[in-house]
Amino acid sequence: MTSEKIVDGIWWTGVNVYTNDLFEGIWPIPYGVSINSYIVKGDKVALIDLVKAGGGGSSENIIDQLASIGVAMKDISYIILNHLEPDHTGFVAHIRELCPTAEILTSERGVPLVEAFYGLKERVRAVKDGEELDLGGGKVLQFFYAPNVHWPETMVTYEKSTKVLFPCDAFGSFGALKGCIFDDTISDDDRHFFENETLRYYANIVATFSTSVINAIKKLGGLDIKVIAPSHGLIWRKDPKRIIDEYIRYAGYMSDYAEPEITVIWGSMYGNTETIMRAALRGIAKEGVKVAIHKVPETDASWVLASAWQSAGLVIAMPTYEYTIFPPVDYVLELMKLKHFWHKKVLRIGSYGWVGGAQKHFAEKTEKMFWDHIGPLEYQGAPKAADLEKAEQLGQELAREVKAIPAKRKRGAGGEG
Ligand code: FEO
Repeated sequence: MTSEKIVDGIWWTGVNVYTNDLFEGIWPIPYGVSINSYIVKGDKVALIDLVKAGGGGSSENIIDQLASIGVAMKDISYIILNHLEPDHTGFVAHIRELCPTAEILTSERGVPLVEAFYGLKERVRAVKDGEELDLGGGKVLQFFYAPNVHWPETMVTYEKSTKVLFPCDAFGSFGALKGCIFDDTISDDDRHFFENETLRYYANIVATFSTSVINAIKKLGGLDIKVIAPSHGLIWRKDPKRIIDEYIRYAGYMSDYAEPEITVIWGSMYGNTETIMRAALRGIAKEGVKVAIHKVPETDASWVLASAWQSAGLVIAMPTYEYTIFPPVDYVLELMKLKHFWHKKVLRIGSYGWVGGAQKHFAEKTEKMFWDHIGPLEYQGAPKAADLEKAEQLGQELAREVKAIPAKRKRGAGGEG
């Protein structure tokens, strides 16, 4: 793979990682993920963000990539680490050997992490918020702290002459790049693919930090941004506003109801909860509300979260299991709690066999999530006719409330055809 020119003096030098390993040790990436790094060439050369070590040859390519644009490792004067998570920095120790005179630049909170992760202290320097670095040849980098997008030390880098923003994780997505790296060179099908993978990436990786995303976008609002070059996913040169607006919308789902849609998350041991879930679906269908149905544990939480993040309504259908919540559903609820899946309208339904317990634990777990509860409906053993009728009524009630919520997503954005 060779480097690709973005604008005069700036190149993409990333990798596509295809692996059975889970991203962050949690999230499946069956369609791969790109890890993008960038070269900025003035009189001096800066390498912005790196790649992980190993992982399908992800780090080994970089020497050849740089050679393809006439840059030898020894030519690099600065290694800019916007963010210390090892998917972007795993190669740091090795690159220090390859270009021993290069100075590593990161934020104040990043410096101790360079030592903690890689044992490096020499020629590691903190840049200040707003500081500029003149590379000569007309290229000037400016650094802006963007804490918690995605961890506390994060900063972004902006090249002033070309107006290219390097925001690291922000504006990123899952999904390997399919031979083209720009937003204006992909097919409509691939655009749809990346929209879905952007939502999944946001719900899995970024959701918790939605307030920080909004703060960072506000802080950078005064910059004239012509190109957004994130560290995962497409480079936005035709329509950078599109991905900014998408992130603003996703971030907004934390503090207000999301889209007028319903995600059904269900697990059933012997079918008694499935039966009641299907009755609730009949009620929802009467109102014509869009529904996504996810059975757990068969569906990985990664996709469940993506669906739930953009849904204003949830049906949580699960039985009691050993006096508490059916564990596969409990795992999803734990993630939703951790990641601030707030402001939902929620119907919880399910059976118990001997004694209950699921509803008590469900109420405790979701107490501080700003959820408006409809129901719940619990019953012993198999649902009776009255239970099924009630579930249908509650499903319709939920759908009516969800339908009244205004859509934030414009047609054609965020995976809609
Ligand atoms: Fe892509 Fe937070 O690392």
